[in-house]
Amino acid sequence: MKVSFAKPAIPDKGALVLGVREENLLGAVATELDELTGGQIGRALKAERFKGEGGKCLVLNAPHGVTLDRVVLIGLGKPEAITATTLETFGGTAVGRLGALGDETAALVPDLPGDAPLSDVEAAAHAALGATLAGFRFDRYRTKEKPDEKPALRKLSVLCDDPNAAKKAFAPLEAVAEGVDLTRTLVSEPANVVYPESFCEQVKDLADLGITVEVLDEQKMRKLGMGALLGVAQGSARPPRLLVMEYKGAKDKDAAPIAFVGKGVTFDSGGISIKPSAGMEDMKWDMGGAGVVAGLMKALAGRKANANVVGLCGLVENMPSGTAQRPGDVVETMSGQTVEVINTDAEGRLVLADVLWYAQDRFKPSHIIDLATLTGAIIISLGGEHAGLFSNNDDLAEALSEAGGGVGEKVWRLPLGEAYDKMLRSDIADMKNVGNREAGSITAAQFLQRYIRDKDTPWAHLDIAGVTWSKKDKPTVPKGATAFGVRLLDRLVADVIESDGGAAKGKGKNGKDGKGKGGKGKDGKKK
Ligand code: BES
Ligand code: MN
Ligand code: ZN
Repeated sequence: MKVSFAKPAIPDKGALVLGVREENLLGAVATELDELTGGQIGRALKAERFKGEGGKCLVLNAPHGVTLDRVVLIGLGKPEAITATTLETFGGTAVGRLGALGDETAALVPDLPGDAPLSDVEAAAHAALGATLAGFRFDRYRTKEKPDEKPALRKLSVLCDDPNAAKKAFAPLEAVAEGVDLTRTLVSEPANVVYPESFCEQVKDLADLGITVEVLDEQKMRKLGMGALLGVAQGSARPPRLLVMEYKGAKDKDAAPIAFVGKGVTFDSGGISIKPSAGMEDMKWDMGGAGVVAGLMKALAGRKANANVVGLCGLVENMPSGTAQRPGDVVETMSGQTVEVINTDAEGRLVLADVLWYAQDRFKPSHIIDLATLTGAIIISLGGEHAGLFSNNDDLAEALSEAGGGVGEKVWRLPLGEAYDKMLRSDIADMKNVGNREAGSITAAQFLQRYIRDKDTPWAHLDIAGVTWSKKDKPTVPKGATAFGVRLLDRLVADVIESDGGAAKGKGKNGKDGKGKGGKGKDGKKK
């Protein structure tokens, strides 16, 4: 679907989608159309008892007095409460509705009042973003779909007084949508297609955007001492990979980067602590965190963000086999800390332990944020409404909550603390990889925190197990892979890093002093 911008005019074919404000206030274009159709618009709204409620939608086929095939009326809610999200929902609802219909072209008119909280240009750009996000479809493996079953929409134009300005405003948003698209594709692909090596293959052309893409193989990881990540990988026929993506968009190329770390378990069978078979197919999306990190890098580089960013993905497949890790095994992480693996299904934290350590050791980031489909317990706590947020830093937690609210990817903070950390005590190693059944998402986060080297480095962990995959359609998120996290973290980078001139806030431009607690040897291990 191609999205463009044009001046307001009633088109002579296809569909026309109009925004309707609450209390039935028709905008300028809707009023004109109402006149052309002999009052059909007003009558239809009245007959439907449609008062412009946000998200509500009414379709009029073959309206009288015009050559249009269809008019679609979409509620915007109260005019004073209109935000960017309202317009994204408007664009997304339009595409969702038209997708099932058969129009090849459509014109979108937000039709806002002059005193709306959003300018005409911003409104058009965000409607275009919503439409683009809603247009995602993963249909690569549907070979028998009849043409009538496929969405017909090819061309969508958003009407606005200043189309050139809208196009400019849309450019960075479109880059973010492209990042979302990459994430959704990676997450949707089955595990026989996306596995550690092929994941790296699929992102290697991010280099075209100025991202340095580097892949560490098993041998390199062994040398670095990543015993926890390698322990998870050892049961699989697919070798693990550590993907490192670097983007230097800040004016000062030496400024400490913000680091994003993603759990990339391309399939989680549970390993020897094997999962029940019902629903196990969902575990193809246990690489959701890594998928978000890749899409986020694409978004940030695509819109030329004024920030230095590094994205790391720990890619492994968790399988049972004769070579698989056993419950009770003890592994040594890159940090030097040892872990007793009580449950091989608590593998995400083992992977992240080594990748988090490596990220800090190599990049000395100003902030570090990890994303992981880490625990089933977070789904019980928060469902699909919020991702779980854990952080050692109130400012970062606050910034994440705010960014999430702004883009409709909400997070909810949960506590960390000594008492939870104690639940990880092991009789024979520095820690176990699971606590007891209580507070499962928190003990998982405590485990990760043990791999934050300097307690002053602002760190946040997002448990995205409940929000990575959606079973139902939403206006800008078709069911399936959501890419939750791409828009949130893109906004966070804009708010926290770019607003500060591209260097990180709070820690001076070189970030930490490089000497983590205890210092380190040349192999990167804590001594
Ligand atoms: N990948 C799962 C968590 C998960 C579950 C994600 C359902 C999405 C949907 C993770 O590796 C896992 O298996 N966690 C265990 C931890 C337990 C063994 C302590 C869990 O949540 O049951
Ligand atoms: Mn698992
Ligand atoms: Zn997992």
